[in-house]
Amino acid sequence: MPTLTPVELATQRLLLRPMDERDTEAHYAVFSDPAVTRYWSTEPWTSIDQAVQAIARIRSAFADGSELRLGIVLRETGELIGNCALHHFVDASRRCEIGYALASAHWGKGYAGEALEALVEYGLRALDLNRIEADIDPDNVASGRVLEKLGFRKEGYMPERWIVHGKPADTVYYGLLRRYRDGG
Ligand SMILES: CC(C)(COP(=O)(O)OP(=O)(O)OC[C@H]1O[C@@H](n2cnc3c(N)ncnc32)[C@H](O)[C@@H]1OP(=O)(O)O)[C@@H](O)C(=O)NCCC(=O)NCCS
Repeated sequence: MPTLTPVELATQRLLLRPMDERDTEAHYAVFSDPAVTRYWSTEPWTSIDQAVQAIARIRSAFADGSELRLGIVLRETGELIGNCALHHFVDASRRCEIGYALASAHWGKGYAGEALEALVEYGLRALDLNRIEADIDPDNVASGRVLEKLGFRKEGYMPERWIVHGKPADTVYYGLLRRYRDGG
């Protein structure tokens, strides 16, 4: 696992920063919304305690180098509207996975693409990754579109990889190689 150092990434409209206790309610608002968890293998949260525990886990995973999850904050208002992460690092192969979620009130404004562009560049340059992977539901059109705009390419299809809200769900696997961005 890489040694993660505290980082803040600023984009035109967003600040990506480490999360802490002040984010509990906003983090709960994201994951208690069934629209957000529609394609996830976990149910929407029903207790604020789940957000408290999640933030504690995020902080401990950052400390042990296993996950870099950053809150996505609107610079104009300071509101936390979601989060994004690099996780499942495989150091020997300089790769990891990417994950992200935004509060549904903020979808369709280009925020995910803007945030993930900064996160991906940080991963490939500062963390020296060679490859970033994503695993999404084929029906999650917005997520696929975000990935493709970032340069990810579809690599594979895995039927019934997950059980999502009681039903088997397929996976489309995406990959982004550093050389795609370096013109190779
Ligand atoms: C996936 C998600 C992060 C996208 O966030 P977003 O900020 O709305 O995405 P963007 O505004 O950057 O949109 C990216 C592209 O997807 C397109 N898009 C968005 N919603 C769409 C939809 N329902 N159908 C088709 N295209 C869609 C946008 O038009 C845009 O493409 P364009 O720039 O060519 O117009 C957001 O929908 C989300 O948080 N979903 C729930 C959590 C989730 O599924 N996370 C991913 C798990 S793998």
